[in-house]
Amino acid sequence: MRYVKKTVRDFNPQGKRVLLRCDFNVPLNKETGEIRSDKRIRAPLPTIRYLLEHGAAVIVCSHLGKPKGEWKPELSLRPVAKCLSELLQMPVKMADDVIGESAQALAAELKPGELMVLENTRFHKEESKNDPEFSKKLASFADVYVSDAFGTAHRNHASTAGAAAYLPAYSGFLMETELKFLGRAMEKPAHPFVAVLGGAKVSDKLDVIQNLLEKADKVIIGGGMAYTFLKALGHNVGASLVEDDKIGYCLEMLEKAKKLDKTLLLPVDLMVADRFAADADSKVVDIDAIPEGWMGMGIGPKTQKIYADAVQGAGTVVWNGPLGVFEFPAFAEGTRAMAQALADLDAMTIVGGGDSVSAVEQMGFSDKITHISTGGGASLDFFAGKDMPGVMCLLDQ
Ligand code: 3PG
Repeated sequence: MRYVKKTVRDFNPQGKRVLLRCDFNVPLNKETGEIRSDKRIRAPLPTIRYLLEHGAAVIVCSHLGKPKGEWKPELSLRPVAKCLSELLQMPVKMADDVIGESAQALAAELKPGELMVLENTRFHKEESKNDPEFSKKLASFADVYVSDAFGTAHRNHASTAGAAAYLPAYSGFLMETELKFLGRAMEKPAHPFVAVLGGAKVSDKLDVIQNLLEKADKVIIGGGMAYTFLKALGHNVGASLVEDDKIGYCLEMLEKAKKLDKTLLLPVDLMVADRFAADADSKVVDIDAIPEGWMGMGIGPKTQKIYADAVQGAGTVVWNGPLGVFEFPAFAEGTRAMAQALADLDAMTIVGGGDSVSAVEQMGFSDKITHISTGGGASLDFFAGKDMPGVMCLLDQ
């Protein structure tokens, strides 16, 4: 199995220096610089606690935002270190740089049970280039590399993959959990395996649709993506979001589904609106009756029922992308109905991708879903069946 990796339980942390890659790419308030959600800081806490309690000196690294090799004070990890310190109720040392004198001095002095944070790895352009010298320098701080950065594991960067070439590399608990659920879904799913795909654009999910059509028994399409498929089938979709250059691709996927004898479900009715606004005029119409100038904003009630029925009896369901403009309450029902259907299932249910995760969380279904992935782009690459550098670099079990 490609995703069964050695974990922090597989080495003795006592007296070791551990370089721990986290995904602390937290959302920031643009005006105040404050951290808007500490979810990504909480996620690797079990790994951090375990390593500290077992006598490791932990050197945490992460990127934040996209400074593109420039030193941008507003993207410093200092507020993250402060938040970590509050959550762990212990001092956390903060380096002034990534691989410079400050980081080196702090790392050299770090004692077992102590924790420090390096500055934003993307302050160096070598990070995104996976520069071997930069990777080697990062690795030189430690005896062991651990990654809990599933959310960044699709990036082939120095801190996500490069440094692992110079150290024994293990997964943290968060990475282990992500790989366990997503890996099982992609490699050994309990059938029937159903994939639910939504979100705005077909172009964001080309490889995902392709791969899941091969792996899953049924693929359910909703959200903005559905309108390009419907147009490909000859429906008049009014002013709905359509990617004309992807019509050929949609036809190819419809053909592929037929050839593989897979079910590919598209909406039969829609919630439509006269403009893209929360308070727009709206109504439910069948897909061949969208009024001129109106746009699809989500799946209609007949489709909701068909889709909820389609997941009944499933062994595994993966879901990526909302089934409508759920940010506007008037158009959230399709997404809510799918969340409810998954919540009621006795199956392994996995939700991955930023917007579908937000929807499920906001609607209060999180604790009824088997696994909610911390990966946005990373979970998409996983569903697309791509090799993930931040996973492949870890030692196999
Ligand atoms: C994310 O937020 O999805 C990860 O932290 C990766 O960030 P990136 O898209 O800037 O590489």
